[in-house]
Order: sequence, then C-alpha cells, then structure tokens
Amino acid sequence: MKRIGMLTSGGDCQALNAAMRGVVKALTCSNEEVEIYGFLDGYRGLIYSNFRMLTGADFTGILTKGGTILGSSRTPFKTIKDPDENGLDKVEAMKQNYYKLRLDCLVILGGNGTHKTANLLREEGLNVVTLPKTIDNDLYGTDMTFGFQSAVNIATDCIDCIHTTASSHGRVFIVEVMGHKVGYLTLNAGIAGGADIILIPEIPYDINKVVEAIEARDKRGSRFTILAVAEGAVSKEDAALSKKEYKEKKKNYKYPSVSYEIAEKIQKKTGKEVRVTVPGHTQRGGSPCPYDRVFASRLGAEAGRLILKGEYGFMVGYKNREIVKVPLEDVAGKLKMVEPDSAIIKEAKLLGISFGD
Ligand code: F6P
Repeated sequence: MKRIGMLTSGGDCQALNAAMRGVVKALTCSNEEVEIYGFLDGYRGLIYSNFRMLTGADFTGILTKGGTILGSSRTPFKTIKDPDENGLDKVEAMKQNYYKLRLDCLVILGGNGTHKTANLLREEGLNVVTLPKTIDNDLYGTDMTFGFQSAVNIATDCIDCIHTTASSHGRVFIVEVMGHKVGYLTLNAGIAGGADIILIPEIPYDINKVVEAIEARDKRGSRFTILAVAEGAVSKEDAALSKKEYKEKKKNYKYPSVSYEIAEKIQKKTGKEVRVTVPGHTQRGGSPCPYDRVFASRLGAEAGRLILKGEYGFMVGYKNREIVKVPLEDVAGKLKMVEPDSAIIKEAKLLGISFGD
C-alpha cells in the first residue's frame, strides 16, 4: 500500500490536472494499492491539514481541463520559516501532517518558489517527487515545463489578432506577454506571431534602437509595427541601476506595467499612435494544448514509476528530448533564462527581428 499526498502550488497553468492524472494512472495501473490525499490550495493545505481523499473517479475526465482540481496558492519561500499569524511553525506543521497521515511520499507540482520549499521538505526528511509546471519555462534542470506551450499558443493568438487590426491602422502595437523575469514566452510567441520587435529581460533594450527599428519599417512602407514585450523587459538604463535604485524607481512608478512606459517613450519620439494589449492571465487559462497534454501525462507517468520504485528526492524533467529525473537540490533556487547569444536569438535576428539592443 502506498499513501501519496499531492498538491499544486504557485500560479496555476494548463495541464496541472493532466499531470496529476498521469501520476494516478501510473500508480493505479500497477498492482500496488494506493491512497491519494489531495491537499487543497497548495502548501497551505499541507500546513493546515486541509485535504481530501481522492479516488480514481476524481481523475477521470480532467485531461483536458485547465486549472487544478486541488486549487493553488502562493506560499512564499522567503517567509516559509517564519511563524504564521498564530505563531504556528509552518515547516514543522507540514512535517507533522505528513507523518500523521503516514504518507510514503508527496507529489508536488509547481514552479520556482514551489521547488525551493519542496527541496526544504526533502532536506527535512520527507519523501518528495516534483513535477515542473509554469507558463514561464524558467525552471532550471528541465528544457521544458508544462503550461508553457499552451501559453505560447494563447499569446501567439493574441499577436495574430493584433496583426489583423494593425494592418488596418498605421499604428504601433505592443502586446505584453507574461513570463515574470524571463523571456521564453515572449520570445516564442513573438517569433510565432511575427512580431517585428521583441523585448525580453535578458536583453536590455535601448529605446533609440527600438525607434530606429520602427522607422526602418516605415521607410520600407510598412503601415504598422508590432512589439512583443515581456512583462519583465528592462531598458539599458534600468539594467545599469543597482537593485536598491531599481526598487526605488519601481516604488514611484506611474505606469501600470513596462509596456505603458515603452509606449509613452515611442509615442514621444515618433509622434505615432501606440496601443498596448495585455492578455494577462488568459495566458494561464483554458484547456491545455495537445503538446502539454502529452508532455504532462508523460511526466506524470514517470513520477508514478519513481514512486512505485521508492525513488524520491527528484523532479521529473525533460532534457535532450528525454524524460529524466533531476535531483531536487540541483533545481531549487536556480533560474533558467534565455541566453542572449543562443541560436534562437541569432536566428530571430536573421529573420529581421529587433531586440532593441
Ligand atoms: O509564474 C507564472 C506567472 O503567470 C508569471 O508569468 C507572472 O509574472 C505571474 O505568474 C503572475 O502572478 P499572479 O498570478 O500572482 O498575478
């Protein structure tokens, strides 16, 4: 008999349900008897012992369903060792609940912050297997995270829609894409959507170069320009600021997000009308795309296999086209970013895309 705890933590994304279903299918297709304890709303459920016993029926019909049947929440790693408002030691509470339920293992689905806490629980002696979810694709130790391809589809659709309206107007359009501090989502959606300029955090932009790219398009007779801008895009000036100075700037920031600042600068320098579109959380919503369904199912199946073999302390990831197990200590606390001199950036530049650098 295996007693498995499961939780989804951090911002949700597509294919969380598909991944959990994959784990449960792999477990229940074996001869092993299993009990599944689903902790609700991420680590919060584990801390406050808020869980639901799940059966195979809970995992039927959820392959195509977005969101997470367990709910999610953000439990920042920064404060995980601080007592809660009632003085509860959260790490100790998680351990106690794990032992009380006599769990064999926790299956934790999450991104960067989630993996730091998962690794802490491993260090504290709990058996943990994790799965890499995030639309940002910024998790170290895996070439791909589930949710990413679905989000690329949505952000690309948004740029496609902007394209048709852009062709009717002589305007500059900015589509602001999620991704937190990394540019994978913007880069991929930008190329897929045929954006003319792509601004990502890893390549700080010079506004004069951005304007040059817009004016060059004008000279070639293009009526419009589309920019795919990462929500974490930074100018060269801002990139040169110290962390403290940058924080100070952001405190007095008058724009809803970076795109509006960029839009204002472009408008002032070119006299052109600039419009901003922010698809926001739609990028995390809806049904997972087929790639993510397959990918999350494969990761889930491998997690199930590891659990049956009693191999713990790993994230199931994807490296060089293979599903692999990566030690949690190698993943936690590291960010995977776009390399400014990577092949995809060079190829995008060959396609005439400007990165404002
Ligand atoms: O990490 C996923 C993500 O969607 C990021 O792209 C984005 O910066 C962030 O989460 C938004 O977080 P929240 O849902 O808490 O607003």
